Amino acid sequence: MAATRTRIAAHLVGRGRELELTLAAVAAGRDIVLEGPPGTSKTTMLKAITAEWGIPLLFVEGNADLTPSKLVGHHNPARVLREDYSADNFVAGPLVEAMQSGGFLYIEEFNRAPEDTLNTLLTAMADRSIAVPRVGSIAALDTFRVIASMNPYDNLGTTRLSTSVHDRLNRLAIGYQDDDAERGIVSLRTGAQGPLGEVLIGDAVALTRATRDHPDIRQGSSVRGAIDCVLVAGRLAELRGIEDPGDPRYREMVYDAMVVTLSGRIHLDESAETTPERVLREIWEDHFVLSPAAAAPG
Ligand SMILES: Nc1ncnc2c1ncn2[C@@H]1O[C@H](COP(=O)(O)OP(=O)(O)O)[C@@H](O)[C@H]1O
Ligand SMILES: [Mg+2]
Repeated sequence: MAATRTRIAAHLVGRGRELELTLAAVAAGRDIVLEGPPGTSKTTMLKAITAEWGIPLLFVEGNADLTPSKLVGHHNPARVLREDYSADNFVAGPLVEAMQSGGFLYIEEFNRAPEDTLNTLLTAMADRSIAVPRVGSIAALDTFRVIASMNPYDNLGTTRLSTSVHDRLNRLAIGYQDDDAERGIVSLRTGAQGPLGEVLIGDAVALTRATRDHPDIRQGSSVRGAIDCVLVAGRLAELRGIEDPGDPRYREMVYDAMVVTLSGRIHLDESAETTPERVLREIWEDHFVLSPAAAAPG
């Protein structure tokens, strides 16, 4: 298991502890809820684990439309008319598919799914098999797991999970990584390099992180915003002929890239009387004008 962990860790920047704990839970035959905002390595980690195990990873989004039959599967209506119900004309949903292929079923925003869907899921998790009407009992392969995710900032349209649900689940809270790790991720995902690339990575990460601490923002941007900011700024630099970060037009270019890549990713506080653009301008000014030391290269 230690060798497996080392190989999986090679796909990730940091996250040693989260990987170890998740791996221990799934290797113990258990299901788990990963509780963290978007962009905190959940999918990346699960892809690396399932790739290492050589099993499928099936994605489902938890929302009010996720009925039990969407999760389990349904009989093809045209074929039912011709042939009547049979196991043969059953179209497996993601839960049955994961059970039969021994894969991980990854339910994002798990707490948004309706109560009866959660119950179906809990039964499958507890019994490792499921009874499908007119098909029979379907048993799960050994490696079948349910991994759920929840966003702690999400308070709209969520079902308050009952204590009986909580009692059946393991849980790991996952937060944002430190700035060093985020710079590593952005560098890895963008391939940006050279003097301009390096300064851009540092600025984009610092500016993105600042969106998580601004008083008018309820939920800031994940590292995805920083990745896009570096990519967009890189193309803007080409268009405008900006080749080094000492160019007097550099800072304004970063602001333009922020508008495109961060304004839709920040969620303002309901009581804040401002706009995403104005908040981003403040963050930009703080970073470049008020505390220029923080903006110095390196
Ligand atoms: N620890 C990490 N190592 C490498 N890349 C990461 C890491 N965390 C996040 N990323 C990158 O950031 C983006 C979002 O990560 P993802 O795993 O999809 O987040 P989540 O599933 O939690 O929303 C992806 O492009 C991913 O490649
Ligand atoms: Mg994800």
